[in-house]
Amino acid sequence: MTAWVEGRVVRLRRWTNELYSLQMHADIGPFRAGQFTRLALEIDGGMVARPYSFVNGPDNPLLEFYFIRVADGPLTAQLIELKPGDPLFIAPRSAGFFVLDEVPAADVLWMLSTGTAIGPFLSILSTAQVWRQFRRSVLVHAVRYAPELTYRDEIDALLGAHPEQLQYIPFVSREQTGYAIQGRVTTAIENGMLESRAGLALDAGSSQVMICGNPDMVADTQQALEARGMKKNRRREPGQITTEQYWKT
Ligand SMILES: Cc1cc2nc3c(=O)[nH]c(=O)nc-3n(C[C@H](O)[C@H](O)[C@H](O)COP(=O)(O)OP(=O)(O)OC[C@H]3O[C@@H](n4cnc5c(N)ncnc54)[C@H](O)[C@@H]3O)c2cc1C
Ligand SMILES: NC(=O)c1ccc[n+]([C@@H]2O[C@H](COP(=O)([O-])OP(=O)(O)OC[C@H]3O[C@@H](n4cnc5c(N)ncnc54)[C@H](OP(=O)(O)O)[C@@H]3O)[C@@H](O)[C@H]2O)c1
Repeated sequence: MTAWVEGRVVRLRRWTNELYSLQMHADIGPFRAGQFTRLALEIDGGMVARPYSFVNGPDNPLLEFYFIRVADGPLTAQLIELKPGDPLFIAPRSAGFFVLDEVPAADVLWMLSTGTAIGPFLSILSTAQVWRQFRRSVLVHAVRYAPELTYRDEIDALLGAHPEQLQYIPFVSREQTGYAIQGRVTTAIENGMLESRAGLALDAGSSQVMICGNPDMVADTQQALEARGMKKNRRREPGQITTEQYWKT
């Protein structure tokens, strides 16, 4: 049985009809950038809990989570109704191995996300560790439609603070934008477009790749990288690919 910590909602930001960021205060233990916690609400007499990645950095006491309202999703249907001051339960301790301590140092860190999975990368990019561990970092955000390219102000601030080290490459698959790569990350790895846009090689000698989000994208991207001679990163056998899936197929 989890002993829940009762936190308080500070703000619910609505980006689109489906995408929201929730800020809250709660007295929880420390976490590492890239980790997740569990949020819970009492629904119909029982606790409904789901994992969510931190968007804020570990030093920021204003906790933030970025989520999509999924059709018929029991928890997200209630999360979008929250108002400032409302109670929200959170696990006292955080979990997960999608953290920089599990990723070997390399020349380039590629951070590949779909949808809400940009969250843990924003947390990672708020730390000093990422700039020490990698000479260059590439943040890829892959979405279906342009309005889903969220957190642009925060990303612009990071780009301004680290112009030599950070690149941001948006992908929009279902409409033309003129600035994002149109299509899927997998295709852009296979045809070399991702490398040419970044001006960096994506290979086992130079790169570490963290992939987060849609499980099909994670699996297919891993396959495309394995075709380039890259391997899953394991504690006993370090490789180049570190993954986290947000749901099961
Ligand atoms: C380690 C981990 C971290 C997670 N972090 C986040 C996060 O930061 N933000 C977030 O929105 N979700 C995150 N999730 C998913 C989250 O836990 C819930 O599944 C989701 O919010 C839906 O909850 P629900 O109760 O409304 O519906 P559920 O019954 O839990 O989910 C219903 C269906 O919704 C779809 N779905 C679930 N999550 C997403 C998503 N993020 N994007 C697109 N489709 C989705 C899947 O098809 C899933 O089967 C994470 C999951 C894991 C395992
Ligand atoms: N009904 C369905 O079949 C279905 C499938 C997936 C998700 N969903 C739901 O749709 C909602 C939206 O989720 P989301 O906004 O995070 O979008 P998403 O479906 O996860 O898509 C985000 C991006 O990932 C791409 N992508 C999807 N599968 C991929 C793969 N195998 N390889 C490479 N890239 C891939 C998408 O391209 P494309 O536009 O080309 O797909 C899109 O650019 C969620 O509620 C989810 O559960 C429904």
